[in-house]
Amino acid sequence: MALSSLTEDSLRTTVASVSAVPVGLFTAGRWHGSSSDSTFAVHDPATGEVLADVADATVNDGIAALDSAVAAQSEWAATTGRERAEILRKTFDAIIARTEDIASVLTAEMGKPLQESRGEVAYGAEFFRWFSEQAAHVAGSYGPAPTGGYRIVTTEQPVGPCLLITPWNFPLAMGTRKIGAALAAGCSVIIKPAALTPLTMTMLVDILHESGVPPGVVNIVTTSRSSDLSAALMSDPRLRKVSFTGSTAVGTTLLRQAAENVLTASMELGGNGPFVVCSDADIDAAVAGAMVAKFRNGGQSCVAANRFIVHTDVHDEFVMKLQQRVSALVLGPGTEPGVDIGPVVSDKQARTLQELVDGAVDEGGRLLVGGSRVEGTGSFFEPTLLIDVPLSSRIAREEIFGPVAVVYRVDSDEDALNAANDTNFGLVGYVFSKTQALAYAERLETGMVGVNRGLVSDPAGAFGGTKASGLGREGGTSGIHEYLETKYMAVEV
Ligand code: SIN
Repeated sequence: MALSSLTEDSLRTTVASVSAVPVGLFTAGRWHGSSSDSTFAVHDPATGEVLADVADATVNDGIAALDSAVAAQSEWAATTGRERAEILRKTFDAIIARTEDIASVLTAEMGKPLQESRGEVAYGAEFFRWFSEQAAHVAGSYGPAPTGGYRIVTTEQPVGPCLLITPWNFPLAMGTRKIGAALAAGCSVIIKPAALTPLTMTMLVDILHESGVPPGVVNIVTTSRSSDLSAALMSDPRLRKVSFTGSTAVGTTLLRQAAENVLTASMELGGNGPFVVCSDADIDAAVAGAMVAKFRNGGQSCVAANRFIVHTDVHDEFVMKLQQRVSALVLGPGTEPGVDIGPVVSDKQARTLQELVDGAVDEGGRLLVGGSRVEGTGSFFEPTLLIDVPLSSRIAREEIFGPVAVVYRVDSDEDALNAANDTNFGLVGYVFSKTQALAYAERLETGMVGVNRGLVSDPAGAFGGTKASGLGREGGTSGIHEYLETKYMAVEV
């Protein structure tokens, strides 16, 4: 049946135990099908089963979403910070109230264990609470011109309609981090979620609508033709900003396209996170941090520790304790109780992991735990621990994006820092030391550092990278400013 011929109520599907997940496009405040009547399938990575057929937006649908965002922009920009704050706060409450529903859809389409999905719902909702607090506190400035005679006044204004391109690994939180900031600033948005995991985001759009976001301010286009759609939107001068989370390769293409219309761009791109364990580290704390930094989200995170760089004096103790913890991880469908690691997002990803691990073994690496893709239903890869791999190997250069921990041995803390910085990426680093941690953190060429802890993600922290890992910051007090432009007025007195 063609999506466009369905009623709004029938544009919903049943996923897992949840009913009524929207599967259409949302523009100008209503759900509708694709103009080509086409759909694409969303799969459960644990079973390979089709969860839903979702509207497949065409370029024309993308432009219609931009029409809708443009029409809503000035009225939304004219609302007060307090009004926007109230809507965002209501959204936060509504997401929390629907934690179980959202978490079960999130697990169904992305695969992470239910417990982690609940954690992502809390994390994702928090961006709305955080930006509700920011919305009412955007300040300008007033002062005399240095030469006298007039006044220098500045005010912050919304940048305009934004395209928000979100990834599959945190289907909720990577969206809310952008949407919360953009709405707080007074921008209308077009959300383009990852084709692998669009359902969590369509649920969120429903919640935003119910929480009072006016028609046209939030629009969503689900599509299997991502690059065509984003290219068309970015070549339209009415779009004023693009914010993207994903690979450095795609981010670079988007930046080239953004240059044509001099679009403001925020890019949260790939990483190659070093995790430095110094000779004086508390090894139990380092192992606990390593488990979070590597195995949160099954390792499918830009902020996952990619390289454990460990001082030779503590290497064997660290490896022995890490091996115990990795061996105890339970792999299975995210819906099963007690599971720590769900499937990776696709078969393609499982095959890439196998190539990386096999390559590392060929280069002298020793497998202490796991190392294989699981044959059969779903795309599972064993939690894996590798040691004795040379720092020059492919696995040390590429973002692993899976439950594979690789430990490298170095002779000194200085060697560890040099190895940590020997990459084009600079998203996050971790350092464990009882006496030098802050000094070493300052020397890591990354936008964020976990200092004696394995988790940096926090809506109140400025999230973002240096070098090839991106431009701009999300969350924290700077996040809202990615969606604001300063206007300066020279005022004669
Ligand atoms: C990411 O993987 O892109 C970031 C996840 C996070 O916010 O922790």
